[in-house]
Amino acid sequence: MQPVRIGLLGLGTVGAGTVNVLTRNGAEIARRAGREIRVVHAAARDIGRRRLCPMDGIRLTADPFEVVDDPQIDVVVELIGGDDPARRLVMRAIDNSKHVVTANKALIAAHGNEIFAAARKNGVMVAFEAAVAGGIPIIKTIREGLAGNRIEWLAGIINGTGNFILTEMRDHGREFSDVLAEAQRLGYAEADPAFDVEGIDAAHKLTILSAIAFGIPLQLDKAYTEGITRITRSDVSYAEQLGYRIKHLGIARRTSRGVELRVHPTLIPERRLIASVDGVMNAILVKGDAVGATMYYGAGDGAEPTASAVVADIVDVVRTLTADPTNRVPHLAFQPDQLSDVAILPMEEVETACYLRMQAKDQLGVLADVTRILADLGISIEAIIQKEPAAGANEVPVILLTHRVLERNMNQAIARIEALGSINGKVMRIRVEHLNRDWK
Ligand code: HSE
Repeated sequence: MQPVRIGLLGLGTVGAGTVNVLTRNGAEIARRAGREIRVVHAAARDIGRRRLCPMDGIRLTADPFEVVDDPQIDVVVELIGGDDPARRLVMRAIDNSKHVVTANKALIAAHGNEIFAAARKNGVMVAFEAAVAGGIPIIKTIREGLAGNRIEWLAGIINGTGNFILTEMRDHGREFSDVLAEAQRLGYAEADPAFDVEGIDAAHKLTILSAIAFGIPLQLDKAYTEGITRITRSDVSYAEQLGYRIKHLGIARRTSRGVELRVHPTLIPERRLIASVDGVMNAILVKGDAVGATMYYGAGDGAEPTASAVVADIVDVVRTLTADPTNRVPHLAFQPDQLSDVAILPMEEVETACYLRMQAKDQLGVLADVTRILADLGISIEAIIQKEPAAGANEVPVILLTHRVLERNMNQAIARIEALGSINGKVMRIRVEHLNRDWK
């Protein structure tokens, strides 16, 4: 049988990793796929650059459109990233009736609905396992392995850079900016590190996970997105004193009022398994009604872990090349005419417990004022830490843990606390989740 011919867009870290994995494991992969898989045409921005993979049999071009228009190519693998020209290239590949494998989370989260509609019209597949959590096969797991479940919620550490920063701050008392610079040096961070630390990268991945978990369209614009830039070393340390760790989580949860879709720093009990996921590693907890709570752990990026997901997608595509398109696994797990229009809840409607840190003047009645504001809004306090003032200082940090409260009420409480003359500056709020098995 003819080998399946791959056109590769992007020959950077992941592109080279993909060629290396396909070369090294070629025989094993062919035994699985039933056909040999060969990269025959590739596009790279700088064709003169030294390559990190063997280039035998690969025609190299600087023009990616040449690859998507190459009539020889069966499957286009898009590893360029970003919106443009990736979107035009993928749409053109689909128009040319080529199957597509992509690692592009931003593209799928923002334009997936349109891309999948075009793919259905042309009878081709668009596979995107590598777009979420690098080497962890989380898309396949939720879409196929958990297909018998009603997924109740998922919560994940889905940005390695952010997790690396929080881990270093906790383990070595380092400052945020210092660790971020190291993450950039080590190549973990996105081209624009704001994507990592402001939660945008995690929002892309969470949007994709929520769609396949709940059978809803991709709705990136409805995801609440908050980064980790305001977390201080002292927050990390107070959280620890209270028995929690701070993790930057993406949470998607089905409630009776709608779907919660949110990325924010979160205090989680230190005894949870996911609280021990450190450094650049990723982990995703998925709760299904039948299976219960499950957790998936692994490398969230890197050349070969990401290539592992890309190659698995290529194998999937090759296996179904001859299958009737209507019998393929749907892109978003649910049949396209069965997507639900359940609303994504505005953040004000979401209920979480909260950690609050504020700078209070060391004077009579300050704590009473703060606790009265909370009580007036029906917010119950679970724990308080008040530190002694440092020598010569007349302000003290006050840390409060609350029970679960509607975000709208907490917003009001924070505004009122910040308006007190005895409170200096802004109140730091970090949401708290216990991730209990019985969290519905
Ligand atoms: N910058 C991303 C991260 C890379 O840190 O997780 C993988 O998507």
